[in-house]
Amino acid sequence: MDTILILDFGSQTTQLICRRIRDLGVYSRVIPGDAPLAGELGEEVRGVILSGSPASVYEPDAPRPDPAVWGMEVPVLGICYGVQRLAQDHGGEVASLERKEYGRAAVRLTEPCDLLEGVPDGFISWMSHGDTILRLPEGFRAVGVTENGLPAVLRHDSRKVYGLQFHPEVTHCEHGERILENFAVRICGARRQWSVEAYLREITPALRAQVGGSTVLLLASGGVDSTVVAALLLAVLPPEQVHLLYVDTGLMRKGESREVGQALRQLGARHLHEVDASREFFEALRGVDDPEEKRRRIGDLFIRVQESSIAAAGFSNEYLAQGTLYTDLIESGKGVGRKAEVIKSHHNVRSPLVERKREQGLLLEPLSGLYKDEVRRLGRHLGVHEETVDRHPFPGPGLAVRILGEVTPENVRVLREADALYLSELKARGLYGEIWQAFAVLLPVRSVGVAGDVRRYGFVLALRAVVSRDGMTADAYPFQAADLLEISAKITNRVPEIGRVVYDVSSKPPATIEWE
Ligand code: XMP
Repeated sequence: MDTILILDFGSQTTQLICRRIRDLGVYSRVIPGDAPLAGELGEEVRGVILSGSPASVYEPDAPRPDPAVWGMEVPVLGICYGVQRLAQDHGGEVASLERKEYGRAAVRLTEPCDLLEGVPDGFISWMSHGDTILRLPEGFRAVGVTENGLPAVLRHDSRKVYGLQFHPEVTHCEHGERILENFAVRICGARRQWSVEAYLREITPALRAQVGGSTVLLLASGGVDSTVVAALLLAVLPPEQVHLLYVDTGLMRKGESREVGQALRQLGARHLHEVDASREFFEALRGVDDPEEKRRRIGDLFIRVQESSIAAAGFSNEYLAQGTLYTDLIESGKGVGRKAEVIKSHHNVRSPLVERKREQGLLLEPLSGLYKDEVRRLGRHLGVHEETVDRHPFPGPGLAVRILGEVTPENVRVLREADALYLSELKARGLYGEIWQAFAVLLPVRSVGVAGDVRRYGFVLALRAVVSRDGMTADAYPFQAADLLEISAKITNRVPEIGRVVYDVSSKPPATIEWE
């Protein structure tokens, strides 16, 4: 499949470049910026992009691409750090700016260039750089400049080597998609061969060949990723070979465990092992109010229950499937990207089962080439219910991290009721899809209220709703006041244990999305 290769130098937006190109229907993948290119440049590679980076090219240990990148036949595009690397490596000069250029910046086009075809003069780009190119390398010219006269777009006089000082992959950059399309499709000539259907065609024979007649076990959580893996396995392999294990911790949302079972059966599951471990989880959480301790106990017990359920089912040498995504591989530093910044590591319990299967070569990660939005598309294609495909993220420890203080069956019941009302109100008002994640949090404080003539002490419930791209940063959703007032009234009317409702307006950072 025609491919655009991206060399990752550690920019926050490298993944966005890849996603935008895939959104054009052109396949793209990310490799570490300093990877040797010999093994990477197959016939299918039609062009190479060098990403941005937090580093400066003049720092002694700044990341460098394989020098072969500059002698290649295929077109090359440097973005931000990438263009500075290009300038520096070709004898130009890069220096630090007195004031970092950050945010929106108009770009004046000084001569026609195929990279900018269809892009109007004076378009607004998105800059984020502290360095600039002071002297252009020989053979290159600036075809676009910023208001300060600094080079914004570079191209070689005769070879297809280009550079952009701004970030076309960021949505704030006007015509960014057009620029990436000009590069990938027009200049590189990459054909639009990428789609989830194409992925399915590619992965189906590979999965069948790998698994043969063996059994595959999937640990289903009810979330989007594991449900799509279930749908994929059940579509590609004989359903008799596919076993699904679902552990009900008692910490799921209202009605969720029942719905997960239904959804998996509707996808054709024949062997669904549903384990109700809620009593054990409540037992393990009794008297514990420290958030870290809660997470630790839940994680440990989860692993024990999984292992004992698997042993009880009498499997041996089965494959284990899990819903690892392309971004998970990159974030954990396992697949690509040298900067193994494990931002989410604290979320994911290291499972000895997974490590064992990995060592034995029995781990299947059939979504590991896909981004979340592609997983959703694949899910729809495979018949996964819209409700599941569009479901907001839900943390592994479930409602336990949304009950501050001790988790008891009674607290869980109260939170479930309130949370279910909140989410159904968001759906009824057409707001659920606009919000990245919404949930209610039960606070361990009793606040005074009145019921008739009596003073009554009730729980305080915090509502959270955030908009975000990937959960790394987030802003509170700007509700219309009427929505919040009506939702609050509904909750306090229907859930008598709750006396007061507040809305959490904090951004991440400095807050996190969850409260614990
Ligand atoms: P925070 O609270 O760190 O959350 O801003 C970012 C995203 O991660 C989810 N989250 C978790 N997911 N296990 C998970 O699988 C966890 O322990 C966990 N803690 C937080 C959170 O819901 C949000 O989407």
